[in-house]
Amino acid sequence: MTSQTETGEETPLRVLAVAGSLNKDSVTRVVVKEAARLLTARGCVVDVLDLLQEPLPLYNPDTAYDAASFPALKERVDRADVIILGTPDYHGSISSALKNFLDHFWHEFAGKCFACIVASHEKGLTVTDQLRTVARQCYAWALPYGVSFVDNEDVKDGKIASESLAKRLDMMTRDAAVYGKLLAVQRRADLAGTEPGFMARHRLGTWRAGPCNICCT
Ligand SMILES: Cc1cc2nc3c(=O)[nH]c(=O)nc-3n(C[C@H](O)[C@H](O)[C@H](O)COP(=O)(O)O)c2cc1C
Repeated sequence: MTSQTETGEETPLRVLAVAGSLNKDSVTRVVVKEAARLLTARGCVVDVLDLLQEPLPLYNPDTAYDAASFPALKERVDRADVIILGTPDYHGSISSALKNFLDHFWHEFAGKCFACIVASHEKGLTVTDQLRTVARQCYAWALPYGVSFVDNEDVKDGKIASESLAKRLDMMTRDAAVYGKLLAVQRRADLAGTEPGFMARHRLGTWRAGPCNICCT
């Protein structure tokens, strides 16, 4: 799967896949890695961010952007056209590890495609809705559905164990690649162009890491 730059050059679609559980035997991680494998098979370049292996300090607006690890992480987020967000359902909400990752960024997400994966015993609808809220708040596009699954049913012994989860992941990775490409092409065109779309404010070149300069002072 490729997308075009403004100069017409074909580049592979870039995906950042975030495993948002710190559980060492996390089923979320298993499914995020399987999504990464499927996207790689579709020709995408996939970067897996496992927050257990690469812990992020708790977000603090006064210190986060000066942390030694921040520039490299920002570059990985900047590079991505599609962001896969994997989280367990914690109290009907997203994990603190994933929320902490999300809190470090916002305009980096604008115009990009989010795809959500939730480990839940209750279909994870509230969790998916909360990720869709984050997407809206950051001007990202979320696929119109998420993939949820149940541990010990859909994932067993570190492997995808149900046909239904395998099918839904296949559908989601196909959609993430196809719609992610459409959005990536338009996002690049909007950043390079002069039209007054929502991406116009992101082409100003005045953005820096930190709280937004629209609603935050
Ligand atoms: C603090 C905490 C809160 C949880 N809350 C819920 C919940 O509200 N609904 C639910 O279905 N599962 C809940 N669970 C269960 C996890 O979502 C479930 O075990 C999931 O598969 C864990 O994924 P992981 O192995 O990737 O960490 C909770 C687990 C923990 C540790």
